[in-house]
Amino acid sequence: MLFRQLYDSVSSTYSYLIASRCGGEALIIDPVLERVERYIQLMRELDLKLVKAVDTHIHADHVTGLGELRNRTQCITIMGEHSGVDVVSMRVADGDRIGIEGVSLGVMYTPGHTSDSYSFQMDDRVFTGDTLLIRGTGRTDFQNGDPRAQYESIFGRLLKLPNETLVYPAHDYKGDTVSTIAEERAFNPRLQVKSVDEYIDLMNNLKLPNPKMMDVAVPANLHIGLSQDDVARHGWAVTAREAIDLVGGADVLFVDLREDRERDKHGAVPSALHAPYQQLKRELAEGGMLHELAAATGKRLVFYCAFGERSAMAVAAAQKAGFNTACHVHGGLDAWRKVNGSLGH
Ligand SMILES: [Fe+2]
Repeated sequence: MLFRQLYDSVSSTYSYLIASRCGGEALIIDPVLERVERYIQLMRELDLKLVKAVDTHIHADHVTGLGELRNRTQCITIMGEHSGVDVVSMRVADGDRIGIEGVSLGVMYTPGHTSDSYSFQMDDRVFTGDTLLIRGTGRTDFQNGDPRAQYESIFGRLLKLPNETLVYPAHDYKGDTVSTIAEERAFNPRLQVKSVDEYIDLMNNLKLPNPKMMDVAVPANLHIGLSQDDVARHGWAVTAREAIDLVGGADVLFVDLREDRERDKHGAVPSALHAPYQQLKRELAEGGMLHELAAATGKRLVFYCAFGERSAMAVAAAQKAGFNTACHVHGGLDAWRKVNGSLGH
């Protein structure tokens, strides 16, 4: 297991790089834009392939590295379903799992610091974002923060994890790097309250100045989606409405790039093939299912995913590999649903 806690000293942010082995797939939590070059260098040195980048919530104190990492590595960007961000590749909900080779994170919705705050639990540790910090808790006075919700998230969810669970927060301003659930329950000054009302009172009277970066970071972090218009300008996109008319056509192959979990939960375009985005490279190479099918039938590949981001990257890769009729559904199933496209299981 490869686990790196990386620090951005400007914003006091911790980012976490996780992989099950050198040479394998990697995932990063809460990357910082200015550190992207360092992450990429480290992944090159460790021979890791970044496949997923996750943010615990919309940050107010730094610009996220999600968009830049996606542009540089074609990784999948992930945030929670409550996040107001324009486009990410995948949205997750409480109880879901985020998987890469040999690593699985459990998704916990832990609102309070913001209304889109999530924590991610992995084996013996939990990544708490700004919900639970070491000897502190994330402020609740902006971005739909709510001290009552935070109390519930901490006391009702995080503190119910096993005592020895390691706590890895998104920030630390004092130099602490890790704690445990038992330690925080006993020694976190914010958690020594007798009631939810006492906690609310405490949080409502912190009188903190706004983060220095807030006016820059929040708007930037709300707009991290890949520009699908560039793909459309190449003529590589169809609208959801146009795609509906293509379903069942003898000359097209719809290709679903989502993962099993997303297909089970949200349904799929009837008769679509399934080729998860992470395996796309193999699928498009000689001997791969998509390569062979497209070559044998001459059919047009129509990629789709949840929001159009994975499919936009897939169509660029397919075009580069010589599939010059390939296209994708602009806006993905999200757009498909809005024009009442049918979905099956
Ligand atoms: Fe935050």
